[in-house]
Order: sequence, then C-alpha cells, then structure tokens
Amino acid sequence: MSNKNIESVLQEGRLFPPADSFKAAAGLDAAKLAALHAAAEHDPTGFWGDQAREALTWHTPFTDVLDESEAPNYRWFGDGKLNVSVNCLDVHLAERGDNTALVFESEPGAVRRLTYRELHAEVCRFANGLRALGVEQGDRVVIYMPLMPEAIIAMQACARIGAIHSVVFGGFSALSLRDRIEDAGARVLITADGGMRGGNVIELKTAADKALSEGCASIESLIVLRHTGHDVPMVAGRDVWWQDLVHDKPATCEPAWVDAEHPLFLLYTSGSTGKPKGIQHSSAGYLLGAKLSTQWVFDLQPDDVFWCTADVGWITGHSYVAYGPLANGATVVLYEGGPTWPDAGRFWRIIEDHKVSIFYTAPTALRALMKLGDDIPNSYDLSSLRLLGSVGEPINPEAWMWYRTVIGKDRCPIVDTWWQTETGAILISPVPGATATKPGSCTQPLPGIDAAIVDDEGNAVTKPDAGGYLVVRRPWPSMLRTIWNDNDRYIDTYWHRFQNRYYVAGDSAHRDADGYFWIMGRIDDVLNVSGHRLGTMEVESALVAHHRVAEAAVVGKPHPVKGEAVFAYVVCRGERPMGDTRAFVEELRQWVGEQIGAIAKPDEIRFADNLPKTRSGKIMRRLLRAIARDEEITQDISTLENPQIVDQLRGK
Ligand code: WTA
Repeated sequence: MSNKNIESVLQEGRLFPPADSFKAAAGLDAAKLAALHAAAEHDPTGFWGDQAREALTWHTPFTDVLDESEAPNYRWFGDGKLNVSVNCLDVHLAERGDNTALVFESEPGAVRRLTYRELHAEVCRFANGLRALGVEQGDRVVIYMPLMPEAIIAMQACARIGAIHSVVFGGFSALSLRDRIEDAGARVLITADGGMRGGNVIELKTAADKALSEGCASIESLIVLRHTGHDVPMVAGRDVWWQDLVHDKPATCEPAWVDAEHPLFLLYTSGSTGKPKGIQHSSAGYLLGAKLSTQWVFDLQPDDVFWCTADVGWITGHSYVAYGPLANGATVVLYEGGPTWPDAGRFWRIIEDHKVSIFYTAPTALRALMKLGDDIPNSYDLSSLRLLGSVGEPINPEAWMWYRTVIGKDRCPIVDTWWQTETGAILISPVPGATATKPGSCTQPLPGIDAAIVDDEGNAVTKPDAGGYLVVRRPWPSMLRTIWNDNDRYIDTYWHRFQNRYYVAGDSAHRDADGYFWIMGRIDDVLNVSGHRLGTMEVESALVAHHRVAEAAVVGKPHPVKGEAVFAYVVCRGERPMGDTRAFVEELRQWVGEQIGAIAKPDEIRFADNLPKTRSGKIMRRLLRAIARDEEITQDISTLENPQIVDQLRGK
C-alpha cells in the first residue's frame, strides 16, 4: 500500500472499535488483554513459562523456560517433554471426542466429516503405518498432497512418532520437490494419485515420480493416497498405497515423548539469495504460539466453525489449519479446490453451507472476489460469520472496507494479522474484543512480543509515521530455531544486521501516533505474489537455466489483484528476439513453471541486449523496478556502463 493511501485513511480517521455485543462475549476483553501485556512486560520469561504450563499438556514438565546461552539459537522449555499430536487430539477425547474436528469439502462437492475420535484413530493408524515402514524419531518425511484430511493426518502422524515433516505445496514443480527432499534428506515421501483444482487433475504422483527419478537417493518409500482414482503407475518395492498401509493397523499408537526443542517440522521458504531455506520449528514453543494466538486473535469459542483457506503447504495452513485450531478443539473446515470453481460463489456457499463463523483468508483472494461484484456474496446467507481475518500481504484499505461491509455486513471485526513462516505464529494483530482497528494496519503486537521499528543503527524510531526495519527485540517461543543444515545462514539472514540483538523480519514498517504498525513491504529481494513468497533470485536462476537465456533480472511490479507481479528482463544468447516473441515468452513462462511452479511464472518478460549495470558490474535493480512500473527515472544513469539500454528496457 502506498503512503498516500495510508495518509488518506488516517486523515479520515476511520477507526472501528469492537461492537459492544462482540466485546461482551469475547474471551479476551480490553482488561484481560492489558493484564497479559502487563505480565509479559514485567517478566517476559516468567510470562511464557506460565502460559506454557497452562496451555500445553506435558509428559515431563520443564524447569528451564528460556536458555539464552547460545543466542540467537534460543531454546525454550528445554528440559520438558511432550507430544504435539497428543496435545491436538488425545486431550480432547474425554470431553469432546464426538465433536467434529474436520469438515472436508472436495472440489466436486463431496463432504466428509471426522470427529476428534475418528481423526485420532486415523492419525494413529497412519502413524503405525509409518513406523511399519521403518520411520523413526527424527527422520524426515515429505508431504506433497492436496488440501484434504489426509494431509493433516500425515502431519499429525509424523508429530505422533517424532518424525519431522516437511510439507511441499502441491503447486510446486517436480524439480522444486526434488530440491526440498534432497535438502531435508527425507526417507519417505507421501503424495496422492492426484489433486483437484479448477476442474483439472493435478498430477501429484507423476510429479513425485519425476522428482524421485532425478535424485532423492534418501527416499525409501513413496506412500500414495488414492483420491482422484485415475490410473497411476506404482513402482514395486518403493510405492505403497496409503489405504493398503493403514487397513490392518491398530487405531491406537503410543506417542513418542519428544524434547520440547525436538524439530516438529521444516518448511521451505524463499529468501533473497540462493535456494529456498528449510525453516526449522520446534515442538513445544511452536505449538504454544499456534495455540495461544488462535485463542487470542480468533477468539475461538466452543461452537465456532473455523475456516482458514490457506493450503497446508504454507505456514498459515500449518499454524491455523493443522495445529492451532486442533490444539483448541475447534471445528475446522477444509476445502480442496479453487475459489471460483465451478462459479464465483463457491467460497460464500461454503460459508453458508457449513455455517462458518470465523473466516481467514488472503487479501489477494478478497481483491479477486471483490472484482466480481457484490451481487455474488449478497446472494448467500453469510449471517453465521462473526469474525474475519486477513493474512499474507498488506491489505489495501479498499479491500478491507469491502470485507467489512459486504462480507461482514459491518458486524464482524477484521483481524489483519502480521507474521511470517519464521515467526511460527501471528505476532502483530488486533485482538478482536479489545482493539479498535484501522483499515490497512495490523495494529499492535500480541502479549509477549516486543516488536519495534528501528533505524539503520538499530535505534528505535520514535517519530510517528517514520519508516524503518521491523524487528523483534526479545525471543518468543514459536520463533524459528535455525535454517536446516545452515545455521550460518540463519544468523546471517535474521540476526547479523543488528549484531544478533534483534530478529530482523525483512519487512519495513512504520508506526502512527497511536503506536499502530503499518507494514510497508519487503526490504529484500523477496516478492509477495498473491500472498506467496518468491525470491527474485530463484526466478532468475530458473530463467538462466534455459538454454537460450544468458542473463535475467527479475523485479516486482504492483498488481491490482496479486499484490505483486513477476516482471522479468531477459538477455538471450545470440540475437535479441525481435518481432512476434509471444511463442518464446510462453515457452519461458512454461519453463519457469517447470523449474519452480506455476506461481513463479513471469507475468511479463522483456528482452534486451544487456542489463543496466554500474561500472562495477552490479545490476541496477532500482532502475529496473522503475522501468517496470513505468515510473519517471530519478536515478543517475550517467554511471551506467550502457545508458542507451534504457530505451530498449522500456520496450521502445
Ligand atoms: C507479508 C505468511 C502485511 C510480509 C504468514 C511478511 C504481511 C511475509 C502480512 C511473510 C500482513 C504477512 N500485512 N504484510 N498482515 N502478513 N505479510 O512467510 O512481507 O509466507 O514478511 O508468511 O508476508 O510471508 P510468509
């Protein structure tokens, strides 16, 4: 969002305090929230210790809350032991065993429900299946599945036996899957014959076969869920059907009691350099963050129906589909398919049919649905909704207001939640029964989170509306622990900038006179396309891997629906492509899709004889961004080695 938008919102003074009726019923009102903040400020470590004792079920209680001896590799609750799946499932069996845990709707429209008891049994069966295949505590298991109950069963089953899962989004290509499997050194891959999206079958098994045929020596077994039912070849000795693996397995499974710090999962995400990095999360600290933030931010009540539209391939699907809501005993809606399939009313129909009360989605989806007009949502009964959430990218005030008026009918508070794969859980967000919201601001840090804005020297920026680095000055339980196999990169990326004192989020932000946070966007070479992180370097290396491409530079360009679009400048070997280049552009887009996944396909590709570089050989990205955006060029281009290139880059 531009500064201008923010200013106009602030000038209009649009401030939405929680409605009295919402406040009265909320789990956390202003007084309780203030008490939590006060406790956390008074004794941050003691605060988290109390929360962890109260919120989680421990096998061996911890005595040491926070070990800072190897900072910034912090350890939380280090000598305690627990099991995450026990905390999400077993703890509910006595009182809520027959409550619905999952409501699944497939894209063709079939609905399947699982109670907590049924989910527990399925998780145990599959966990026993994994053990039968030889999976042991600490082994890595990669999950490459559609968004459906079995994806969650697989995650929870890994947690049950202490295996470390790494979910790879089903939209990633075979090559991306291969790279992640190899980096994690996984023993088992779990997939499905296929998934459904927009009426098409996503060939997950085919992609898995391709990934395994091009490396992945560590993989011993490939488990395949029969889902779409179309024919897929099975490799004898390696492949096993999920259904065959579980059919004779008992419905109970002794959990592995793991150390609090035992890695629960790896999740690969894009950074500004090199290949995606395996963000490593812990068991206890992560679960605590996911569980508490779900309570605080979504005000979960016993009869809520919670629908977070994120895929389990992203962190949002981990914390607010697979772990946080289940740890709270909630009813979770899962929908496998596309938002506009078979028509643009699908999301709203799901809300009506399943009486969704809490709806959590991304601004990009809201903007896409907003464009289709108000008549569509207006023709559904959305009266079950009581709270709306947004995540993944800055939400522009227009989309926020549409969400509030057209979807929430001015009744439902909106929580704009800021967080990251690395933070594990929401860190900055309104608490709906307490915080007055402003369209476009994620408002204030949650209790125990010391978020701040600092300048180049690391000093807190106190002047209202002055921008700076968004940092977190104290460790928090759900923070990432390291980057898998690369602790140096962990320190370099997140801590080095301010001498290991502050966690550096990679976003810029400012605070207004009320202390509200406004996120401005990334300060590194990471794009946010439809709420998904994408490294410019990743797309560049995909492009230069094409035999005709010599050099490539990728920048982001603002896009009305996706937030940001991928804009690529390409220098070819030999002659610059001239005339009708459409076929070649399409070939390159497909190529990038195969290398990374469809989300990385450039929206625009422009060819040039060379790229604008300084005399020392650095690509001038700021200039390329300005050109992509058709902006006035304010940079000094006299230092360019090749100033005449600018016209060509402009497409002239
Ligand atoms: C951006 C997604 C503004 C931000 C949970 C962050 C946001 C990156 C918001 C993390 C928000 C996420 N307002 N920007 N409410 N939420 N972001 O790791 O740039 O996929 O650094 O985690 O998304 O993306 P990630």
